[in-house]
Amino acid sequence: MTKLVKKAIFPVAGQGTRFLPATKAMPKEMLPVVDIPLIQYAVEEARDAGIEEFIFVTGRAKSAIEDHFDYSYELEHLLQEQGKTEILSTVRKVIPEAGRVSYTRQQKPLGLGHAVWCARYHIKNEPFAVLLADDLILAKPGCLKQMMATYDKVGGNLVAVEDVAKEHTDRYGILDVETDDGIIAKARGLVEKPKPADAPSTLSIIGRYILQPEIISYLDRQEKGAGGEIQLTDAIAHSIGRTPLHGQHFDGTRYDCGNQLGFLDANIAFSLERENMRDGVKEILKKYS
Ligand code: UTP
Repeated sequence: MTKLVKKAIFPVAGQGTRFLPATKAMPKEMLPVVDIPLIQYAVEEARDAGIEEFIFVTGRAKSAIEDHFDYSYELEHLLQEQGKTEILSTVRKVIPEAGRVSYTRQQKPLGLGHAVWCARYHIKNEPFAVLLADDLILAKPGCLKQMMATYDKVGGNLVAVEDVAKEHTDRYGILDVETDDGIIAKARGLVEKPKPADAPSTLSIIGRYILQPEIISYLDRQEKGAGGEIQLTDAIAHSIGRTPLHGQHFDGTRYDCGNQLGFLDANIAFSLERENMRDGVKEILKKYS
């Protein structure tokens, strides 16, 4: 029997240099797709998947994230007075139950593996999910919920995967695949950002993980990997052999909101999902076709 996954880590301590100057004083994870910040999509996806404890790994200039998931008495009072009850409930539904959200700080952005390690005392000895908010996924049910169903069957470490163009393997963690039925791939290895010629496959890891707590003991070593950063994928790769690793081909579309084009693409896709915007967006798009 696999142990239930009730905790999720949201690493939000990156510098977001590709989005400067927008991210000079504002966290990248607060960039809105339509009118919802990226981090809120990730938190809602986690909540829908059964997550009960939300652990944010924050850093410098990230306090807007804490404020977003807290009450704003002045604003709420104003909305109440103005009779804007619908928008008031939209604002309130974001806020996790008291005590279910915690923040820890990654003082230096030493890499994703280091960010996850910073949350080790919150994880204790339980399996946990990791969600990267800049990988925004349009899926029903949500990507993490799909992964939870797979995790029930396979246990171990599980990552969301998708095929990428061969020339882009050096941007991702790439699985060395043992078997693949098109839904679940079993991995015998994992390489971070391999050159196309060295890539064992084109199956790349995207920003959703379900991991066993043993990962932390490898991260304790603080070994630097690709790009001089402490890589989460190195810790996952290290545990293959003791903990099985599977990749989940999720049903949905991922938008890489860490770069401008992906972010624009997400805004178009998510606004087309809104019934009250669809026709207007199509009209706008016609102007540019
Ligand atoms: P990215 O690789 O997109 O890095 O991080 P970044 O710093 O956010 O953005 P750029 O490349 O400078 O534009 C992926 C996720 O991991 C988190 C980021 O906040 C983001 O959600 N992260 C990354 C950390 O929390 N700490 C780190 O040291 C690195």
